[in-house]
Amino acid sequence: MRTRNKPWAEDMLVNDTKVVMNPESKKGKWKQHFNNDNPIHIEVGCGKGRFIRETAKINPNINYIAIEKNKSVIVTGVINAKDVECSLVFVPGLVQNLTSYFDKGEINRIYINFCDPWENRKKWHKRRLTHHNFLNMYESLFENVGEVFLKTDNKELFEFSLNEFLNSNWCLKNISLDLLKSGADNIMTEYEQKFCDKGMPIYRCEAKK
Ligand SMILES: C[S@@+](CC[C@H](N)C(=O)[O-])C[C@H]1O[C@@H](n2cnc3c(N)ncnc32)[C@H](O)[C@@H]1O
Repeated sequence: MRTRNKPWAEDMLVNDTKVVMNPESKKGKWKQHFNNDNPIHIEVGCGKGRFIRETAKINPNINYIAIEKNKSVIVTGVINAKDVECSLVFVPGLVQNLTSYFDKGEINRIYINFCDPWENRKKWHKRRLTHHNFLNMYESLFENVGEVFLKTDNKELFEFSLNEFLNSNWCLKNISLDLLKSGADNIMTEYEQKFCDKGMPIYRCEAKK
């Protein structure tokens, strides 16, 4: 998906109450930010935010945080979530910085939807958001248990991810090699919609630590 640079994005993000521009200042204080004790689920690389917005709409007892590095992209998510009743905030930020944004025990679930497969060179596998270095970071943020829910169109990335989860002693469940055909409840992301329109299978799993 090509994204147009939106020079006005920064201004709009800074002035929107659904956006947290300095997530480091919220570390250890997210429950105060949401003003409740509900669990916190995050999506990393949320893109234009359809998945997390629609998920948040039907789960009012969960707090959601959508994280995305590209301000020209996340701003569309913010605009589309305007006037939507839900507990959702947007963070323009990097997955690599999660430990600066959250204290141990602050988040309970991480959604990774259609992350970059980094497939051309083996040395790039370290950049995959399911590489064991990332899994170890996610684990360090969980208190007792925590979950990662993964969806991808990329079979090779999926295979890699299953092995990474298992080698790091995560428990896997609800594995699907064709999510649409499985009939499971599903909220589509923007990328997923495009792949499904082309008839491509979607791979999905839930990993628990
Ligand atoms: C292929 S898109 C998928 C977007 C959305 N999840 C979907 O399924 O429609 C991947 C997104 O992840 C974002 N992204 C990539 N690396 C990231 C990182 N290290 N931290 C935060 N966001 C990242 C990209 O900017 C892009 O918007």
